[in-house]
Amino acid sequence: LENGLARTPPMGWMPFERFRCVTDCVKFPRDCISERLFMRTADLLVSEGYAAAGYKYLIIDDCWMEKERNAITAELMADRERFPSGMNHLSAYIHNKSLKLGLYHDIGKRTCMHLGPGAHGHYSIDAKTFANWNVDYVKLDGCYVNGIDLNTAYPAFGQALNRTGRPMVYSCSWPYYQNHPNFELIKKHCNLWRFADDIRDSTESIAKIIFKYFKRQDHLTKHVAPGSWNDPDMLVLGNYHLSYDASRLQLAMWAVLAAPLIMSNDLQTVRPEIRALLQNRDIIEVDQDPLGIPGHCVLMSGNIQVWLRPVMPTNNIGVRSFAVAFANIGDYNECPLCPQTFRIILQNLGLTNQMGYTAYDLFDSKRKVGLFKPKDQFTIRINPSGVEFYKFKPEDIYPLSIHFASASA
Ligand code: GLA
Ligand code: GLA
Repeated sequence: LENGLARTPPMGWMPFERFRCVTDCVKFPRDCISERLFMRTADLLVSEGYAAAGYKYLIIDDCWMEKERNAITAELMADRERFPSGMNHLSAYIHNKSLKLGLYHDIGKRTCMHLGPGAHGHYSIDAKTFANWNVDYVKLDGCYVNGIDLNTAYPAFGQALNRTGRPMVYSCSWPYYQNHPNFELIKKHCNLWRFADDIRDSTESIAKIIFKYFKRQDHLTKHVAPGSWNDPDMLVLGNYHLSYDASRLQLAMWAVLAAPLIMSNDLQTVRPEIRALLQNRDIIEVDQDPLGIPGHCVLMSGNIQVWLRPVMPTNNIGVRSFAVAFANIGDYNECPLCPQTFRIILQNLGLTNQMGYTAYDLFDSKRKVGLFKPKDQFTIRINPSGVEFYKFKPEDIYPLSIHFASASA
């Protein structure tokens, strides 16, 4: 969507995978969906360094609303017990920290899990409510849409947002709820869109999303550009089930896909080594690359997949750098859960710059691995459910003709 927003994939935090729809704040004061959770997270985004690394959108997912609209004005209302200070107060709190506010809603008759009022029949009033609350980002889900045509409903809600005059990133679950999504249309109306199942805190779930992308990659990558992104769902690093290697895997793969980096975790309990991963500047730089070209899987062999994403900088004749993720996922090897050795001649990946490439390990603060010519072999070991992630930066081609200054005495 060309609304000037999301020129790079949005980064932030969203509670759903971790905190689901906990509404009992008496029994679960730390975990319930409440203004306290969002204020605490806003504080931590700043104090723990996430905001400075780029994680700016604090997105309130489902379960924030009263079950019914205001009987007189038909406006949506935040749950009075869990958001006692009101949405304007929370919005100001978040903006005071130089963060941005996102809010969940549903295009249908009810929201997915909380069964709060959906937007159906109320596009204009809901868009105005969001603008009045100074919302910066809207996640629009697609549950309970019997008899509703998503291909007209999502654009219409987008137009209602647009008419408020307040810039709001528009995140659509639209294609996820269709068998044959029209991405040409979706890309015109949304800044990002979900294309796969809800993520879970497991390597299998991450692998499933990656394979889904792989199967449709020619189709999915075509519509990506600054302002329009595929959304493979939240980052689940920092929760319960991912190993350190699987945490690296998700982060690297999301960066290669040019995916939004929206964490769902408890920032208070994320271990330091996972926090360091989440704040890895070199990997964030790949994700946020200004060219906005998404990665492709260029090779799949047994458990190993090689994913390539063209990124900046280019050399003196315009050859691009590549971020290359070597992933070890699945059980297609004689030893599925072992590290694997992988060898490749660089030109077989399309790395053909004749002067070669300097390779940097993106997980090791730009450690130089060496200079590689197109015919050189690149050899690595990749941990199970893990990834190696490099940047290949093309060396300059020496100028073919050198202009000497005229040596007049
Ligand atoms: C709801 C559920 C999700 C997912 C979708 C599928 O949104 O909450 O977990 O199963 O339905 O339509
Ligand atoms: C759907 C979405 C999730 C989350 C839940 C909330 O399942 O896909 O991301 O928003 O609804 O109910």
